[in-house]
Amino acid sequence: MPVDELTFDPSDPAVTRNPHPIFARLRAEDPVHWSEPMSGWIVTGYDDIVDGLTDSDVFSAERLTNVSKHLPEAARAPAAEILRYLNSWMVFRDPPDHTRLRRHMAAVLNLPVFETLRPAVSELTTMLLDQLPDGDVIDLMPHFSILLPGMVVMQLMGVERDRLLEVKRWSDDMMLFIGSARGVPDKYERARRGAVSMATLFKDLIARRRADPGDDMLSQLIVSEVEGRQLDDDELVGCLMMVLNGGHETTANLINNSLLALAHNPDAFTYLRDHPEGMQVAVEEFLRFDSPILSIGRIVREDIEFGGKQFAPGERVFFMLLSANRDEEVFDNPHRLDVTRDPNPHMAFGKGPHFCLGTPLARIEGQIVLSEIVRRYSRIELAEPVEDIAWINSLVTRGPTRIPLRLVK
Ligand code: HEM
Repeated sequence: MPVDELTFDPSDPAVTRNPHPIFARLRAEDPVHWSEPMSGWIVTGYDDIVDGLTDSDVFSAERLTNVSKHLPEAARAPAAEILRYLNSWMVFRDPPDHTRLRRHMAAVLNLPVFETLRPAVSELTTMLLDQLPDGDVIDLMPHFSILLPGMVVMQLMGVERDRLLEVKRWSDDMMLFIGSARGVPDKYERARRGAVSMATLFKDLIARRRADPGDDMLSQLIVSEVEGRQLDDDELVGCLMMVLNGGHETTANLINNSLLALAHNPDAFTYLRDHPEGMQVAVEEFLRFDSPILSIGRIVREDIEFGGKQFAPGERVFFMLLSANRDEEVFDNPHRLDVTRDPNPHMAFGKGPHFCLGTPLARIEGQIVLSEIVRRYSRIELAEPVEDIAWINSLVTRGPTRIPLRLVK
C-alpha cells in the first residue's frame, strides 16, 4: 500500500488491515508523532514504548476519567452504573489502587491456577474442532476462535458453559462504553443493560461461593486480603468482568492471527507438523508477528519532553505494540514470520506494572489449539482474498472480523 501522507488514521480500513507500512515510516521519520485523526500521540519505536509503559509516574492508566469528561449529558446516568464496576478494573487504575487490586488478582491468576485448566483447554479444543460444521469453507470465528477462550475463562470463574453466548453479548454491549463505536444510537443504554445483567450474574455467583466456598478462583478471591482488607462486592464484580473481557477477545485474536499467518506461510505449517516440540517457541512468534493488542493508551500527567516532543498534561498517548514488535532495531527481518525465532522479546503482553496477568493462560491456549490444528490438518488456506475481510475497528484489539478457512485433512 503506498503511503502518501505521514499520518496514522485507523478509520481507513486499508490501514486497519495492514498498518505495518505506515508504522515502518513513522519509526523511521517521526517515531513520536502527533496524529490529528486520533487527537493523540502515536509512539512507534520499541525503546520509547518500553520507557513509556514502565513510567507510570508520567503516563497514567486512568483513561476512564477522560471518557467520563467527554460524555454527553444523556449518557451520565447510565455511565455511573457502568463506572461503579469499571472503577475496579485495575487495568484502568494507577497506584495505590492498582497495586492493591493487582495483589488480590495475582493471588488467584497465576501459573499453578492456569495449569489446572490445561485438561479443560485440551478437551474443549477437541470437542469444538470435532463439532465444526461440514463444508468446504468454515468461518472459524463463530464456531471456534471466540468460543474456546470464552469457555475457558468462564470455567476459570465458575460460570456454566451454556451461558457463554448470553454473557458474551452483555460483555460486547458493555464494551460499547469503552470502545470507539460510532453510529450506535443507544450505545450507552445498551452498555448499561449489559453491565447490570453481568453484575446480577456475578453477584449471584459471589453469594453462592460465600455460602459454600470451594478451592476455585472466585472463592479464593473473595477471601484474599491485602493490607487487612478484602474486596467488596462491587470490586469483586469489577474484577470478574475484567477477567472475562481481558481473557476472551485477546485470545481469540491470537488464534485467528496465528491461523492467518500459517495460511500465508505453508512452510511454517509443515515445519510445525514435523516439529510439534517447536510450538512453544512458535506461539511467541505469532504473538510478535501480528499482536492481538494494537495499542495501549495512557494519559500524560505532567509537562514533559518525550522523544524530542513536548507533551502536555491530559494529552492521550498510544503506545503501538504492533509497531514495537516489528521494530527493525530489535528484530532481524521483522516482517518475516520465523517460527524458530528465539529469543523473542516481543511486547504483545505489554510492559511494566500492568504487564498481562493472563500471559501463562494465553500461552497454554495458543499452544494447545495450534498444536491440535497442525496435527489434524495437512494445510490450511484462506478461502477469500484477504482484502475482502474486514479487520476489527478498534484501537485496542487487532484481528479479522471473520476467518473463512479451507481446512485440508
Ligand atoms: C493473547 C492473549 C492476551 C494478550 C495479547 C493480552 C495482552 C494484555 C496487555 C497488552 C495488557 C496490558 C494493558 C495495559 O498496560 O494497559 C494486559 C493486561 C491484563 N491482562 Fe491480558 N492479554 C491476553 C490474555 C489474557 C488472559 C487470558 C487473561 C486472564 C485470564 C488476561 C488478563 C489480564 C489482566 C487482569 C490485565 C491487567 C493487568 C494490570 O492492569 O495490572 N489477559 N493483557
